[in-house]
Amino acid sequence: MKTNRLSEKMTAILNSQVTEEAFASQIYLSYASWASGEGYTGIAKFLFRHAEEERNHMTKILEYILNRGAKVSISAIAPPPKNPTDICDCFEKIFNHEVKNTTAIYAVVKKSMEEEDWATWNFMQWFVKEQTEEESFAMGLLDKIKIAGKDKASSNTLYLIDKDLEHTNGELTAAQDVTATKP
Ligand SMILES: [Fe+2]
Ligand SMILES: [Fe+2]
Repeated sequence: MKTNRLSEKMTAILNSQVTEEAFASQIYLSYASWASGEGYTGIAKFLFRHAEEERNHMTKILEYILNRGAKVSISAIAPPPKNPTDICDCFEKIFNHEVKNTTAIYAVVKKSMEEEDWATWNFMQWFVKEQTEEESFAMGLLDKIKIAGKDKASSNTLYLIDKDLEHTNGELTAAQDVTATKP
């Protein structure tokens, strides 16, 4: 008896989203390490926390695939892009990556509509909402750095931004509370 509730194509696109989230986590890990090396400990902490969140997203999708009786296939993760040149570049890269990830999420939603796979469509709505929050948070980071003078920001202002982000969960709180076991 066939118990797999996901089509082959849906399984493939969900598995590739697992890799996307793992890739996002690697990017945050790499930028966090870069920021730490540059002395921005607050920003580094914030980015390390976010790397964990992306891991949680990965696990959430992985568990969904398993729960639907389909097969998970773990693939290699591409290396993260090269280090940012400065904080402004770092925040711009983060925003661009979040937008890219949103596009990938939308592709999964679109596929679920085409297949009339309403369970997957419903599952993916959490990610649609999550991406809206993440994009607006990344926009907020860009606003902060814009006000500070972009790449001409003084070390004083950068110090304040760094301090500010150390304990910031911001709009990401909801995502941080989420784990694979506690969606
Ligand atoms: Fe994510
Ligand atoms: Fe994200």
